[in-house]
Amino acid sequence: MARFEGDWIVVTGAASGIGAAVVRRLLSDGASVLACDLSQDALGSLYGELPDEKRLETARLDVTNHAAALEMVASARARHGALRGLVNCAGIAGVANIMDVEPDAYRKVMGVNLDGTINMCQAFVRAVKDDKNHRAIVNISSGAGLMGVANRLPYVAAKFGVSGITKSMSPELGPLGIRVNAVAPGVTRTPFMEYVLKDPAAAARIIAAHPIGRIGEPEEIANVIVFLLTDDASFMTGAVVSVDGGQTACL
Ligand SMILES: NC(=O)c1ccc[n+]([C@@H]2O[C@H](COP(=O)([O-])OP(=O)(O)OC[C@H]3O[C@@H](n4cnc5c(N)ncnc54)[C@H](O)[C@@H]3O)[C@@H](O)[C@H]2O)c1
Repeated sequence: MARFEGDWIVVTGAASGIGAAVVRRLLSDGASVLACDLSQDALGSLYGELPDEKRLETARLDVTNHAAALEMVASARARHGALRGLVNCAGIAGVANIMDVEPDAYRKVMGVNLDGTINMCQAFVRAVKDDKNHRAIVNISSGAGLMGVANRLPYVAAKFGVSGITKSMSPELGPLGIRVNAVAPGVTRTPFMEYVLKDPAAAARIIAAHPIGRIGEPEEIANVIVFLLTDDASFMTGAVVSVDGGQTACL
């Protein structure tokens, strides 16, 4: 039997990169998926052709919209009777240093990466708190959620926040039977990093920072995210798991 048969899992940032790889992996493991993203068009062009309509719903959601997040997850819980998991992949980059960071740009990066993750975690926990099935949340931190990175001040602030709230939620949610962990990817080949990887000198520097000698593929991050949703990870909560080719091994 596929390991998620009958289970509904909510994935944000599902129209691209790591989120899209998570959706593909979950569907192939038998899960049913509510795939959310800011861009309904991108969701449509990615998933419109998939044959198994009963196991996939797509929805436009801005994770920074607290009320919309609560409403979307509560209605999914009501529609499907239970939810098994939440994966928070929605994220944006933020390039700025302490000299030039603008408050609005800073707030935007914090809004999507940190507030959005909090909104979705709250929506999920409120919707499933009285259920009895096994439930798990996976947040996406970053190497930048474990170490300083020059010129990425808003992003580092947000990702340290994601690592921190993941740890803080674990004692709150353990008694409810909800595990919560984060994955901290190294540089991964997605549209998110395209603008940096286009520069050969920057790409060479990035590769050199990963002891495995290359950047990651979205499927390699998705494999670990999906593992954390399964009962194989039943004794894991409050962990921030590096999936980064060794980038942060020597911190
Ligand atoms: N790619 C990397 O190298 C890397 C490394 C470390 C961490 N991460 C993190 O992994 C996560 C996924 O990144 P990715 O590389 O797949 O990026 P991506 O740009 O390919 O995908 C991000 C998705 O999030 C969606 N999104 C953006 N704002 C949103 C909002 N307000 N509401 C809902 N959806 C929104 C985008 O539309 C996009 O589909 C992010 O949190 C990112 O910070 C990525």
